Amino acid sequence: MKLYVEKDYEKLSKVAANIVREEIEKNPNIVLGLATGSTPEGMYRELIKMHKGEGLDFSKVTTFNLDEYVGIDEGHPNSYHYFMKEMLFNHINIDFKNTFIPDGKTKDPEKYCKKYDELIEKKGGIDLQILGIGENGHIAFNEPDETLNLGTSIVNLTQSTIEANSRFFDSIDEVPKTAITMGIGTILKAKKIVLLANGKKKAKVIKELLKGEKISTKLPASMLLLHPNVTIIIDQEAYNG
Ligand code: PGA
Repeated sequence: MKLYVEKDYEKLSKVAANIVREEIEKNPNIVLGLATGSTPEGMYRELIKMHKGEGLDFSKVTTFNLDEYVGIDEGHPNSYHYFMKEMLFNHINIDFKNTFIPDGKTKDPEKYCKKYDELIEKKGGIDLQILGIGENGHIAFNEPDETLNLGTSIVNLTQSTIEANSRFFDSIDEVPKTAITMGIGTILKAKKIVLLANGKKKAKVIKELLKGEKISTKLPASMLLLHPNVTIIIDQEAYNG
């Protein structure tokens, strides 16, 4: 596991975007795994700058997003479909046909989740997966529990996640209670993983993760300790609290 501690969020975002840029330049047909939430927003801004200013080419890139709320329309401002368009896709030359985000309104979740994992495999697997981390240690929406799902599945959100994400909604009651998420197994199949975390709120969970002593389903991010190619990029606040 490689660790970069950057001085602030801006630097963290630039370092992360540079990694993505290098990987796209090495392999223009790359399959990227993308995350939503506040953490990667800065990285997406940097990637847009790289596209507009330096011609970074996304035309052959394929993307798979980690998760989506269940029951929310794609056009809802809090959907991750909406987020990805606003934060990245609408501002780069990606072919929308090559962007995949779980469908939170699927009528047949079991079949759909299986198909999502199969589609990732069919496209050659994820080359580079970007992750955030929840204050409770979740990655994607794999919440701390007795067991963790390997494949993409529908999960219940914990109270901690509902509270953390309520900042994006008018009231906490509007936060969906379930989500569709790539499983831990899906994530660990990525060839390379970059996890980002910034701010004091993440310091506790990052400290736990960096101990690197044990894996536990109670700290889903600790499963990354099993992966041979993980880079963690954090800012000073997430490092020191
Ligand atoms: P955040 O969420 O980037 O909004 O902090 C991260 C996560 O919950 O995985």
